[in-house]
Amino acid sequence: MLSFEASKKVCSPKQAAQLSRAVAPFLYQAHAVGLGYPATIRVAAITRQCQSRASLRPTPSSKRSFSTTSVNQLRDVFPAKDTPYIRQTPPAWEHPGYTEEEMLAVTPGHRSPETVGDWVAWKLVRLARWATDLATGIGREQQVDMKNPTTAVAAEKPLTEAQWLVRVIFLESIAGVPGMVGGMLRHLHSLRRLKRDNGWIETLLEESFNERMHLMTLMKMAEVGWFMKTMILGAQGVFFNAMFLSYIVSPKITHRFVGYLEEEAVHTYTRLLREIEQGDLPKWSDPTFQIPEIAITYWRMPEGKRTMKDLILYIRADEAVHRGVNHTLGNLKQKEDPNPFVSEYRVGEEQRKPKAGLKPAGYERNEVIG
Ligand SMILES: [Fe+2]
Ligand SMILES: [Fe+2]
Repeated sequence: MLSFEASKKVCSPKQAAQLSRAVAPFLYQAHAVGLGYPATIRVAAITRQCQSRASLRPTPSSKRSFSTTSVNQLRDVFPAKDTPYIRQTPPAWEHPGYTEEEMLAVTPGHRSPETVGDWVAWKLVRLARWATDLATGIGREQQVDMKNPTTAVAAEKPLTEAQWLVRVIFLESIAGVPGMVGGMLRHLHSLRRLKRDNGWIETLLEESFNERMHLMTLMKMAEVGWFMKTMILGAQGVFFNAMFLSYIVSPKITHRFVGYLEEEAVHTYTRLLREIEQGDLPKWSDPTFQIPEIAITYWRMPEGKRTMKDLILYIRADEAVHRGVNHTLGNLKQKEDPNPFVSEYRVGEEQRKPKAGLKPAGYERNEVIG
């Protein structure tokens, strides 16, 4: 179970104050949610054998308390609704799938800012990363080389599974916002201006759907408590409105911002993969760790390829696609260019059709539009 609860037994007022400072950048309402209470985070993950669910004990250097919830307390947070006539509800957007080679070929990357807009987008993402590191309680020794923040993945000390869950659940709850905002605004623009959209809306909505599937998958491994829920609520309130205004003012810069955000996502999951491979995360490095059924169904993960590492490879490949798509869309003329990712190319020009996951910096306009 992942929850923040008020309890004087498990956390001192000093820790609560640290936590308060850490989440303040995310929440304007930080004080309103009662951070004066001592707080703790509880995390548990699903494993194949109940007995293998060992405690996530606090490490001496932890800034916060991470404790265990026993297995039988972990309830399904969103069980499928049993109805008399409906057998199942498959996803509206089927996942396109990846080959193993495609997933292994994903690498962290960074597009150097070229314009003032790029620079602003990049700095905003740097600020968001700084705030996330602070909120996740990442110590100095857990930091990567900050001169290459989206490409360096080695750190002196790994994150704990609890830190990873808090980080990725929070990030995924945010990541599903921009695609929906962009898709919605382009949809409304098309309706009121009586103009074609040329294929952008579906890609943007599909991106937000895909991000939500990441969140649904991760949610199956942890139960979010009221404090985290409040953080997510506040962050969404701020982020949705920021994205809404930003997309109206400059969709180009907003796509660049999302491209940089996705660079962070690829970086985050690459680091997670590294720590799983190195055996730094005992539960997730265990090949018998049971990943959620929802993930197996959504990504159609083949038998024998259903470890936590396999799951993260799929999620990371999705993030690489978002990164390439958004950096490319940020290079296009927003009002007139068709979405090259869903377009059919003229005979003889088919090789120009972009493959989003392959180019961390995205495609330039002259490569895909002409
Ligand atoms: Fe994601
Ligand atoms: Fe993403």
